[in-house]
Amino acid sequence: MKVPKYYRKEFESFLADIYDVFVNVMTFFQIKRLRKKAINTLGLKKGQSVLDLACGTGGLTTISAEKVGEKGKVVGIDLSQRMLNIAIKKSKQCPQISYLWHNFEHMHYKNLFDAVVVGFGAHEVPPEPRHNLYKQAYKALKPKGKLLIFDYAMIRNKPLRLFYWLYLRTIEHPNGWEYVNENHQKILKEIGFKRVKHQRFAYLFDVAMYQIKVEENGKRRN
Ligand SMILES: C[S@@+](CC[C@H](N)C(=O)[O-])C[C@H]1O[C@@H](n2cnc3c(N)ncnc32)[C@H](O)[C@@H]1O
Repeated sequence: MKVPKYYRKEFESFLADIYDVFVNVMTFFQIKRLRKKAINTLGLKKGQSVLDLACGTGGLTTISAEKVGEKGKVVGIDLSQRMLNIAIKKSKQCPQISYLWHNFEHMHYKNLFDAVVVGFGAHEVPPEPRHNLYKQAYKALKPKGKLLIFDYAMIRNKPLRLFYWLYLRTIEHPNGWEYVNENHQKILKEIGFKRVKHQRFAYLFDVAMYQIKVEENGKRRN
């Protein structure tokens, strides 16, 4: 499989090994609590299935696995084998989790998952691949399935925007700034989702949950 041009090779370097420390420091050691809070918004039940796209070191994957229990199923997909290796080590006690080295733009799942989660993965890609990601999530979900996006949001404090722009352009993926400016709700609605919940989570983070739109006869669009 070809790795796309936009992909940040850093995720295959030593930076993968310090990713968890970086995220902890960046969030003042709040990341686990925030991830749990984000997953809680899905209202997952035992035995359900979750697809974690751009799962990285498995932060959201392992929390989802706790929620769905051993009878459930969680699949984590990522393009960095080094990040996945860390995730695999963390998930040894979770038989319900499986990890796959794959590009989230080209999956073949259809009607399989109760929830799809994307944590800090959507800002990593340019608009077209991102819209492909949303379409893939839509296809992978069962009718009434939910998509959870946990990612950066536009900073409200206007004077700080220049610093935020600099941060996103230098430390994060160059698409980060474009991501925080995009109207995700409009794009997701065009794909077939309807917005059910959107939450400003912490100073720089947003959680948005979109549910599959079901027509009156109980069937989902396309
Ligand atoms: C910032 S990390 C997020 C990891 C994790 N979800 C979290 O919340 O900490 C972004 C991840 O996206 C992955 N990624 C980027 N483009 C991808 C693609 N096209 N397909 C699959 N994974 C991708 C990277 O390998 C990296 O692990």
